[in-house]
Amino acid sequence: MAYAITQTCCNDASCVAVCPVNCIHPTPDEPDFGTTEMLYIDPETCIDCGACADACPVDAVRPADLLSGPEQVYSELNRAHFGGGSPGTVWGAPRFPRSLPSAASAPRVAVVGTGPAAGYTVQSLLRSTDAEITVLDRAPLAGGLVRFGVAPDHPATKQIGDTFAGAFRHPRVRVRLGVEIGGNLSHAELAAHHHAVIYAVGAEASRDLGIPGESLPGSLPATTVVRWYNGSPEVPVDAVDLAGERAVIVGNGNVALDIARILLSDPDGLADTPIAGHALAALRASKVREVVLLGRRGPEHAAYTRPEFLAMRELRGVTVHVDVRGEPTAADPDSKAALLHGLPSGPVDLGFPPPEGKRLVLRFGSTPGAVLGEHGVRAVRVDGEDVPAGLFVRSIGCRGVAVPGVPFDAASGVIPNERGRVPAPGTYVVGWAKRGAHGGIGANRACAAETVDTLFDDIAAGRLAEPAHGPKEFERLLRAR
Ligand SMILES: Cc1cc2nc3c(=O)[nH]c(=O)nc-3n(C[C@H](O)[C@H](O)[C@H](O)COP(=O)(O)OP(=O)(O)OC[C@H]3O[C@@H](n4cnc5c(N)ncnc54)[C@H](O)[C@@H]3O)c2cc1C
Ligand SMILES: NC(=O)c1ccc[n+]([C@@H]2O[C@H](COP(=O)([O-])OP(=O)(O)OC[C@H]3O[C@@H](n4cnc5c(N)ncnc54)[C@H](OP(=O)(O)O)[C@@H]3O)[C@@H](O)[C@H]2O)c1
Ligand code: SF4
Ligand code: SF4
Repeated sequence: MAYAITQTCCNDASCVAVCPVNCIHPTPDEPDFGTTEMLYIDPETCIDCGACADACPVDAVRPADLLSGPEQVYSELNRAHFGGGSPGTVWGAPRFPRSLPSAASAPRVAVVGTGPAAGYTVQSLLRSTDAEITVLDRAPLAGGLVRFGVAPDHPATKQIGDTFAGAFRHPRVRVRLGVEIGGNLSHAELAAHHHAVIYAVGAEASRDLGIPGESLPGSLPATTVVRWYNGSPEVPVDAVDLAGERAVIVGNGNVALDIARILLSDPDGLADTPIAGHALAALRASKVREVVLLGRRGPEHAAYTRPEFLAMRELRGVTVHVDVRGEPTAADPDSKAALLHGLPSGPVDLGFPPPEGKRLVLRFGSTPGAVLGEHGVRAVRVDGEDVPAGLFVRSIGCRGVAVPGVPFDAASGVIPNERGRVPAPGTYVVGWAKRGAHGGIGANRACAAETVDTLFDDIAAGRLAEPAHGPKEFERLLRAR
């Protein structure tokens, strides 16, 4: 028996550190770690110790011979990754644990945000410094996208929020919610009370397509839909209208798949998840029977990851139909196009109402030209054809939002930085605000380590100024606001 890694893997590499025989790859030191969709266990080397399963924050590691149903495929996926034999040990550059010189007084660090980037940053600061940490978030509940983004039918993934909550409850950490930096508290005020401020504010703005009709009622950014089904207090309970039989989603990343899956799932299967009550009620009354996913490029360039697509293929009661426009693509067995083998395929006339049953149409090589309707979405123009639809969702990625008083690169939508150091005294950035809206939860772990490493350099080199005010004054200021 060996262990295998399954769908919910978020690449945070907690398992790699505990494996006694180095059989989990790619490791953070290996070149393909930055691009891999998940990690894999070499079944020939695994000694079944179970340490990785204990370390995994999202329950992604299981004994391979206990996998059942759709998960059985992961036994083969793990093995296939090592098709050419075990990679053995790949030696990266040496790394030495860092800690601050003992003479340095405990730095006071503010972390803005409570999502994964903030969570990993606080863990890293707690492990290697005696810093006193203030964590602030605009939202009334902590968790960032783990709470208000990750789909409710991914409970194992949401579990990682418990790990971060453990760090936020540490005696050296104070969490202050409902505080918006650049809103009810300025960056200058925050900086004046801390040695360093680390921004982990994510990338919260949705991207627009710039097509006519995009702002009609019923045409929504993906961020609104995911916050709606996750019960964000910032989104009205009636924000998503499911009265039409067809929904069209632009983009085929994992967020688009999440939304399609929730719209097409049997609501009874969602009842035991943390889905918002209003969303569950709306899904029970939903008329949506077909979701069309528009990918502007071919299937080999689909933005979804393999594990998420495999889960979609297995969704009970839903037919997945493939409709590729434009040039047919080469059937490279390693390409994402190969994931579509065996699925019903061919041109679908979307001018007609959807057939009986539930269907996901993956249309490749298509972009919408306009959203049509008078008082709400009636149809979407796709390649010159009017496709009747009641809901139009643009799921084409996100971009950062400027925090007043903090440098911001409007072109790339991130806070400019070098290894997390922002060109403003004592200011740092981590997570999606640092790298752009790419990568799953685990990618923020190495990102946080890099930013904290840069902060160490600056503390050790005496580059951080003593704050003008102390912690008690900061608490008084917060209370006054
Ligand atoms: C819909 C969706 C689903 C996803 N699902 C998965 C998944 O299943 N698995 C996976 O591995 N990855 C998933 N991801 C990716 C993952 O969520 C990101 O990698 C991760 O959340 C980025 O972390 P972050 O901390 O940089 O940003 P966020 O999680 O967005 O956190 C930013 C925090 O900053 C706060 N904030 C923003 N501005 C301010 C301000 N001015 N003042 C105070 N607070 C502020 C926000 O309220 C928020 O709490 C998903 C992403 C999306 C969009
Ligand atoms: N593991 C999980 O379960 C999970 C769940 C959700 C999110 N995430 C992660 O979170 C990150 C963000 O996900 P995401 O889905 O928001 O973004 P994404 O993966 O970047 O996908 C964006 C999609 O939008 C398309 N697009 C962009 N601009 C467009 C335009 N102008 N017109 C038409 N299509 C356009 C892209 O097509 P092109 O490819 O052609 O640019 C792509 O299909 C990803 O790293 C994702 O893996 C993970
Ligand atoms: S079960 Fe033990 S040996 Fe096998 S991958 Fe996990 S940690 Fe490594
Ligand atoms: S989520 Fe992290 S700990 Fe779990 S299998 Fe993936 S990389 Fe390993």
